[in-house]
Amino acid sequence: MNIHFAAPEAIHDASRLLKEGALVAFPTETVYGLGADATNDRAVKAIFEAKGRPSNNPLILHVSSPEKISNCIDISRCSKRTLENLNLLMPFWPGPLSVILPKASHISSLATGGGDTVAVRIPNHPVALSLLELCPFPVAAPSANRSTYISPTTAEHVYSGIGSKVSLILDGGPCGVGIESTVLSLMEETPVIMRPGYVTKEQIEERLDCHVEIKSSTTHSNAPHVSPGLLLKHYAPHTPVKLIDSLVLSDYTTSKKIGVILFDETREIPFDACVTRYASKSNDTTEVAQHLFNDLRSLDNGQLDLIVVDTCERSGIGIAIMDRLLRASYRE
Ligand code: TXA
Ligand code: MG
Repeated sequence: MNIHFAAPEAIHDASRLLKEGALVAFPTETVYGLGADATNDRAVKAIFEAKGRPSNNPLILHVSSPEKISNCIDISRCSKRTLENLNLLMPFWPGPLSVILPKASHISSLATGGGDTVAVRIPNHPVALSLLELCPFPVAAPSANRSTYISPTTAEHVYSGIGSKVSLILDGGPCGVGIESTVLSLMEETPVIMRPGYVTKEQIEERLDCHVEIKSSTTHSNAPHVSPGLLLKHYAPHTPVKLIDSLVLSDYTTSKKIGVILFDETREIPFDACVTRYASKSNDTTEVAQHLFNDLRSLDNGQLDLIVVDTCERSGIGIAIMDRLLRASYRE
């Protein structure tokens, strides 16, 4: 078993492995990441192989300080406005915000999916920060799950999915935020949210004092993909998922075993569930974000015919939650 409690010695071992070009999984405040040296093509290629991820889907670079962010980007290709916005966003770090900027030439172009932009963030987790502090390079880290499956929020989740493909999994306990970072592009005059996440559009707009767009293929469910990473089917358990709002009679008359994830203890459902989990008991979206992926995984392991999931209002963190749920329930 290659899971190690994230004590200083294990973190040190992890940094040594990363320097050697190996893959290391580590906790962040959002989800566990599958890390590799972002300047090493061979190491970055191994991430894509371990995840079964399409090579055109770019990775997020993780660093421990604002100075190290400057080292990932080509400042000469940043407009004045982009640099101003980047400065204004600094108070979100360390935290669940990834920013897309022009890529510096020494970053592996495999990490950026062949593109000339790069997403960077400073994660807000003591284990991640200690590890990144020991690395003289940015660490490319997608969520540490097989491509299209649910992101991992514990070391055991990582182990059960890609355990055999990583040299070391640092165990820092369950992730506090539980849903991924917001991915924000500063490449255009108007900043664009490429993936909604824990930091909300309203928070960014207030900070930048300007309008921010959200581009997500699931804000309009039939819209074409706007980013190579925004696959429609994503975060998907193996068991079929239906959102409570789109249930039809035949879903629960023909499904023998149904598991349900609710966001409110007063919610009534029109069928008998064999398992009920409450991601929150009081419609608290912060709690839902924290528990949702763990609940989906746990029901996916429960030999069920159908997983039914509650919905929440699409505002604040609810936008990111509904984005994940629409993808989890997507069927070709
Ligand atoms: O919270 C998180 O962001 C976690 C933790 C580990 O930091 N990471 C994560 O990475 O969720 P991943 O690879 O699962 O998702 C990265 C997302 C993808 O949707 C990808 O397409 C987008 O970020 N992305 C990364 N770089 C991009 C770029 N240069 N242009 C457009 N989208 C980009
Ligand atoms: Mg992911």
